[in-house]
Amino acid sequence: MGSERILFVDHTGQIGGAELILLDVVAGRENSSAFLFEDGPLAKALAERKLKLIISRWGHGLSQFRRDSKWLAAVPLAGRLIAIVEELAIAAQAHEVVYANSQKAFVLAAIASLFVRRPLIWHLHDIISPAHFGAMQRRMQVMLANARATKVIVPSQAAAAAFIEAGGKRELVEIVPNGLALPPEPRTAAELRQSLGLPDGPLVGVFSRLAAWKGQHVLIAALAALPGVGCIVVGDALFGEQAYAAELKQMVLQRGLADRVRFLGHRSDVPKLMKAIDVMVHPSIDPEPFGRTLVEAMLAGVPVIATNAGAAPDLLEGGRAGTLVPPNDAPALARAISAVLEGPDALRSQLAYAASRAQAQYSVTRMLEAIRLVIRKLQAGAAA
Ligand code: UDP
Ligand code: GLC
Repeated sequence: MGSERILFVDHTGQIGGAELILLDVVAGRENSSAFLFEDGPLAKALAERKLKLIISRWGHGLSQFRRDSKWLAAVPLAGRLIAIVEELAIAAQAHEVVYANSQKAFVLAAIASLFVRRPLIWHLHDIISPAHFGAMQRRMQVMLANARATKVIVPSQAAAAAFIEAGGKRELVEIVPNGLALPPEPRTAAELRQSLGLPDGPLVGVFSRLAAWKGQHVLIAALAALPGVGCIVVGDALFGEQAYAAELKQMVLQRGLADRVRFLGHRSDVPKLMKAIDVMVHPSIDPEPFGRTLVEAMLAGVPVIATNAGAAPDLLEGGRAGTLVPPNDAPALARAISAVLEGPDALRSQLAYAASRAQAQYSVTRMLEAIRLVIRKLQAGAAA
């Protein structure tokens, strides 16, 4: 399985959702290598999966370079970017396929492909829209994709539509929904809460990394209107959003919520934490490209409340597998949380439906099979 020599490229050393997908994609691909712009937990996890690692000498800190940064701000970095392109071109020579797992990785890999041409896959985990990227960045991504990508894999219809809307060629796009699995957990929610030191009483949770567009502040605002409801905020600022993390903590203090809201930081036991809560809230204020935590909660049998944008309405089948609320609307979110906490009868069938939908549509096996097929077809094309 997976005998191709693939050069996987990512710009970050941190492990966000896109990198968790990459870790599943590389499993069993020991002939392949990973090129990272910087060292970090991702490098360690890839090495554990027996990939050969190449860490750029020039890429450190680029993942903190904000996605909305103005193009001009990149100019002093130009020398480093050129050096990374050269490293990538050299690395590509020893591989049959290049697989870029982030937009920064793709842009530089596409430029490197001008010197060393290999079939180039862009696994695009983002929504290319003004909410997420500046105009110059969008033009550059789409122009390079149309000129150099052999395939663009996206996790949802929403991500596909945004790419095409931005000018990307429709025929490049392959929709491969993310695949998720959760380890079995025999303990009950009450037992889990006790073992995790979580309080009794109604408890909601949010599991996204801390970033303004993930909208944790909207949930905090909603909690102010929900006396007696506790909340765990799981996740940390992974990509240069430390100021937002500090603002959130400040907001909790200012609103007198310190005894009800707990910041747990980045955790490696998300499945357990999810099974211990009463509601999983996904409050992104910009369209979510996929949202792994939605499916994780569906698999965990926990009610989901998500904002009605990006991939969430698809994942939740327009509200059949969870509750949809308008983005950036704290009162509406508060009402939805109360309604779910009241435990209406309809919730039981919604949860059963959500779990079976997640297992059927968003399995790791299904995702890996689809990606394997993309790689195989593209190699056949290259050989023809
Ligand atoms: N996650 C985690 N620890 C945390 C917070 C999040 O392991 O403290 C995981 C979460 O379970 C999910 C992933 O990180 O699998 C985040 O992926 P998602 O697609 O929801 O969002 P992203 O951060 O990639 O935009
Ligand atoms: C990105 C997106 C997230 C998606 C993940 C994996 O980080 O923000 O929505 O689930 O990639 O594709």
